[in-house]
Amino acid sequence: MPEDNSKDILIEVKNLKKYFNVGAGAVLKAVDDVSFVIRKGETLGLVGESGCGKTTCGRTVLGLYGATDGHVIYEGVDIQGLKGKAKKDFTKKAQIIFQDPYASLNPRMTVGDIIAEGIDIHGMYRGAARTKKIYEMLDHVGLNREHASRFPHEFSGGQRQRIGIARALAIEPEFIVCDEPISALDVSIQAQIVNLLIKLQKEMGLTYLFIAHDLSMVKHISDRVGVMYLGNMMEFASSHDLYEKPLHPYTQALLSAIPVPDPEIEKNRERIKLEGEVPSPINPKPGCRFSARCKYAKQICFQERPQFKEVEKQHFVSCHLF
Ligand SMILES: Nc1ncnc2c1ncn2[C@@H]1O[C@H](COP(=O)(O)OP(=O)(O)OP(=O)(O)O)[C@@H](O)[C@H]1O
Ligand SMILES: [Mg+2]
Repeated sequence: MPEDNSKDILIEVKNLKKYFNVGAGAVLKAVDDVSFVIRKGETLGLVGESGCGKTTCGRTVLGLYGATDGHVIYEGVDIQGLKGKAKKDFTKKAQIIFQDPYASLNPRMTVGDIIAEGIDIHGMYRGAARTKKIYEMLDHVGLNREHASRFPHEFSGGQRQRIGIARALAIEPEFIVCDEPISALDVSIQAQIVNLLIKLQKEMGLTYLFIAHDLSMVKHISDRVGVMYLGNMMEFASSHDLYEKPLHPYTQALLSAIPVPDPEIEKNRERIKLEGEVPSPINPKPGCRFSARCKYAKQICFQERPQFKEVEKQHFVSCHLF
């Protein structure tokens, strides 16, 4: 992938692979040679169907999974070589917000102690300063100070997600992987949480990797978007270019599945239907991962994996049609 202006880059993901051995010599290629950069202060959307490797990619970028191959360079330093204090410092800079606000909060801890988990691990504040920080975070995410002494089960899904956000932000990180932070929530409160994340990003100068299934949601909040399919990055472009001019047949199909608000247009427009199931990521076939479902597939598509190339300025696609 050609270089961006390097001073704007926070993270460089280079030829990243994460494979899982799933027994009897079978290898599940969850993330298979993916490259992209994340710029300081941006929201990078990562989309694709269930099982395409979004969470694995996010967790490997955070160093929660060791990479099988490739590099994650954070402010010029490869995170895989980090040990001891340097590793701890990195975990303070890079945080995650989980999809399931029910499963990710310890039911036996008070909300205050949950929010202070990272503060305690990193020894940032004690006593009155710690309490002050907890209150400040509750304010930030739209909860009350009285909530600090209560337990997770006393809260709604949306409130729990606010607690998860407060916990991630309490240690003043720079970068956050938001792993489908709204998909477990009621539609009516999804927008509130998204707006909160946008507000906090502005206030705290955060950089987000925002993972989602829903392309329409990602369009709203992302500066740039990457589309994954079976462990590969199929297309990568600014949000505007991706939606106005999708190049990859897979991206076109995903976009065509989003309903158009105008009923007249909706009724008459042609939809691209994706035929067949997502193939298994275990011991994948050679060629383009999408070839089995692609209506434009030619012989080469079944034989050779296409290169990920820049076909227009900052618009990358991995497809033999280009
Ligand atoms: N620890 C693991 N061991 C073995 N296989 C795994 C492991 N974690 C993930 N996988 C497999 O890797 C692939 C990618 O999974 P991943 O959770 O990254 O997908 P995803 O895009 O986040 O999906 P979803 O949208 O459902 O969250 C899947 O086939 C999954 O079964
Ligand atoms: Mg996931």
